[in-house]
Amino acid sequence: IMDGNGRWAGARHLPRIAGHRAGIAAVREVVEGAARLGIEVLTLYAFSDENWGRPREEVSFLMNMLGGYLRSEIATMKANGIRFRTIGRTERLPKTAHRWVEKAVSETTGNRGMVLNLALSYGGRGEILEAVKRLREAPDSRGDLTEEQFSEHLDTAGLPDPDLIVRTSGEKRI
Ligand code: IPE
Ligand code: MG
Repeated sequence: IMDGNGRWAGARHLPRIAGHRAGIAAVREVVEGAARLGIEVLTLYAFSDENWGRPREEVSFLMNMLGGYLRSEIATMKANGIRFRTIGRTERLPKTAHRWVEKAVSETTGNRGMVLNLALSYGGRGEILEAVKRLREAPDSRGDLTEEQFSEHLDTAGLPDPDLIVRTSGEKRI
């Protein structure tokens, strides 16, 4: 859970976006370190459903930064066998950022190394709601529903449950 960028910057008398830039540098280091350690799945909660409520300039800065990050990292992901995927309502992203997301997913889909999963426009309630909608359309939606069947309709289908959750910034909440 990526948090505390703004406070990191504020403590240094810098604008919030300087914190976001430093955050991206930290992301690069963490992704590289996790892959080297043999971590199977790394999920970065980069942008929540609630984050759309931030000032427009900040949202567009973050979206541009996301596009720029993917544009510069796709080659590295391919070279390192990283498989990129997302959870969340990515269709809500601005067109350019969305296109980079799709490109990163499709160009790394055959890779077998670490899964780099980005939570974008993600929220737990939204995820459950989408799962329920998908279930309503599933042909096998009648009869008893098991946890396993429900899990298959969550954004995280195919991903293991997390072993460790780190929230930067020092806040202890999810
Ligand atoms: C995390 O840092 C970055 C995003 C959520 C995009 P914040 O922007 O939440 O920084 P603080 O929590 O206000 O310090
Ligand atoms: Mg925050």
